Amino acid sequence: MRHLIDFTDLSEREWEHLYRRFEEIIEHPGDYRDALKGQTLASLFYEPSTRTRLSFEAAMLKLGGGVFGFSDPAASSVSKGETLKDTIIMTSAYADVLTLRHPREGAALAASLYAAVPVINAGDGGHCHPTQTLTDLVTLRRLRGSVDGLRIAVCGDLKYGRTAHSLLRALSRFEGISAVLVSAPELSLPEYVTCPRMPLYKQPDLRAVIGEVDVLYMTRVQRERFRDPAEYERLKDRYTLTPEILRDAPEDLLIMHPLPRAGEIDEAVDSDSRAVYFEQARFGMFARMALLLELCSLPPFAVKATGTPGVHRCNNPNCITKTEPCLPVFEGSVCRYCEHLSP
Ligand code: NCD
Repeated sequence: MRHLIDFTDLSEREWEHLYRRFEEIIEHPGDYRDALKGQTLASLFYEPSTRTRLSFEAAMLKLGGGVFGFSDPAASSVSKGETLKDTIIMTSAYADVLTLRHPREGAALAASLYAAVPVINAGDGGHCHPTQTLTDLVTLRRLRGSVDGLRIAVCGDLKYGRTAHSLLRALSRFEGISAVLVSAPELSLPEYVTCPRMPLYKQPDLRAVIGEVDVLYMTRVQRERFRDPAEYERLKDRYTLTPEILRDAPEDLLIMHPLPRAGEIDEAVDSDSRAVYFEQARFGMFARMALLLELCSLPPFAVKATGTPGVHRCNNPNCITKTEPCLPVFEGSVCRYCEHLSP
């Protein structure tokens, strides 16, 4: 692994190693106080974030490293029209590792082609979010002892929810997992999110599945990805988890959510011992410390693409290839950047 674009970039051995490191850090955080002294993280957030950005920044500071970057692209040269390519070339000259959140699908892969240091995808449009998945998996393993054998329901916005995409794909690499997809038909999982070997069931009725699963993973309807605000209004309140619905749920259910929530978990659920979403977010910082330690120990490497203008064929209007002029063109029926079908 040089960059983390999606969770499946990690081998099984790398995941094992990261989990062990996460446990060591959480047990003995003081041992890591100076582990990345003298190294710097560039935190490039082109989209709003609370947990992901702050937990990355806290992780780097707790490892003794430094952080710089922007959380509002309007305050950087992006507002003057600078391309992602130029921003990445420059910041990778100043930092030892980059973390990037961007509204366009495929932006992290694009950035990794121009970076001389590791790029971590902190969310690329409605596509992937591997460090949330890392957070989710360490939470599952820490609280259940293992990820294998899990029965999970993933509920909410499966169409635009990048956390759901990365999580489902990652889970399909474990043993004996079954997943129930709970969503409105308009917000169902895109075809490109394939989960080999893992049975996926669809059940739009949350009450019908709540008694049958070990984990309920709730997600927010992603307002910012809708082209039609009326469509968002129509779909946003389809699912609300309440104490009343939870009456039929197992006593050892884990209720997870990447957060932020926008009404899909009633606040009365917070005092239920099965609600672990705040603990999940806390684990996220330790998981990111483990990841930064790994990536910052890599030797320097060569940039893969210098870039010449080319014609990209991609059906997705929100693909990074629509705004980044010099990305390498890949042949094939699926766009290499955002994974949507090419015409
Ligand atoms: C998620 C994201 O940004 O995709 N948040 C997060 O990183 N924890 C989920 C969301 O915004 O709904």
